[in-house]
Amino acid sequence: MTSKPTILVTRKLPDAVEARLARDYNAILNPHDKLYTPEELIEMSAKADAMLPCHSEHLTADVIGKLSDRIKAIANFSVGYDHVDVAAAKARGIIVTNTPDVLSDATAEIAMLLMLGAARRASEGERLVRSQGWKDWSPAFMVGTQVTGKRFGVIGMGRVGQVTAKRARGFDMDVHYYNRSRLDATREAGATYHDSVDSLLPNADVLSIHCPATPETKGLVNAAAIEKLPDGAVIVNTSRGAVVDDDALIAALKSGKVAAAGLDVFNGEPVDIHPGYRDLQNVFLLPHIGSATRETRNAMGFRALDNLDAIFAGREPGDRVA
Ligand code: DGY
Repeated sequence: MTSKPTILVTRKLPDAVEARLARDYNAILNPHDKLYTPEELIEMSAKADAMLPCHSEHLTADVIGKLSDRIKAIANFSVGYDHVDVAAAKARGIIVTNTPDVLSDATAEIAMLLMLGAARRASEGERLVRSQGWKDWSPAFMVGTQVTGKRFGVIGMGRVGQVTAKRARGFDMDVHYYNRSRLDATREAGATYHDSVDSLLPNADVLSIHCPATPETKGLVNAAAIEKLPDGAVIVNTSRGAVVDDDALIAALKSGKVAAAGLDVFNGEPVDIHPGYRDLQNVFLLPHIGSATRETRNAMGFRALDNLDAIFAGREPGDRVA
């Protein structure tokens, strides 16, 4: 009997996922959910045939270059894989996979929460109630932006973008989108296609960002882009902080050009996010919890394991990205 492959699991995973790992592999688990340093990851890689990391591990070209030769695969517990230098992995013959599809519903829920929370001033209102600062009611009190019937602009109409657009239609929103290629009529579901971000922006009363972070999308939502939005637009980001130029967004939130923003992802997260966000009232901020439901976290783990199962059975994994 051949021995089971060893998997280096970098974070604490749901019980059911760890149980399957323990059944099918020699799993190096992380029961205390310690955030390993790059040096620790490199050292531990000597004992493993594959890694199962999250976006909290930054697998730069330097780290990948120093991983043990034993490592055959990096099976991410995430759909985004901007934390992995895929070119470096490819150069070393390391297979990289992600977990698409399974987190679209959960992320779309958070996009709706951010949209409503930002547009209807939820953080500000909640703070007022908690701090006993709520002393009065008047027609002028806490007036926000209504989203019903407005235009919902999507950058990146992939799986998450499509589900989010569907949810926005529940608020009678008119969906516009930019995507590298136009969707077929079924997936488009009546949405208006724009072949450039510049064409989309003036049509986005709410702009929801769903494109991955790549060198091409870094800082895509910058001062020039924000200027093209309708006055008083709302910006929602559940993708990656890198797509947004923080200085530009903060300036627009201060001037009122952007009425409000709902953000789940940040440049420099978790500890080095732009301090300007913390002082603003018109932002609704969450700590990167788009996929944080029990159902989705299980599904992400199982999807990562499906990819590992295929790799160690000599088959092509379903979600190979490098
Ligand atoms: C993802 O899957 O990319 C989420 O952002 C969590 O990492």
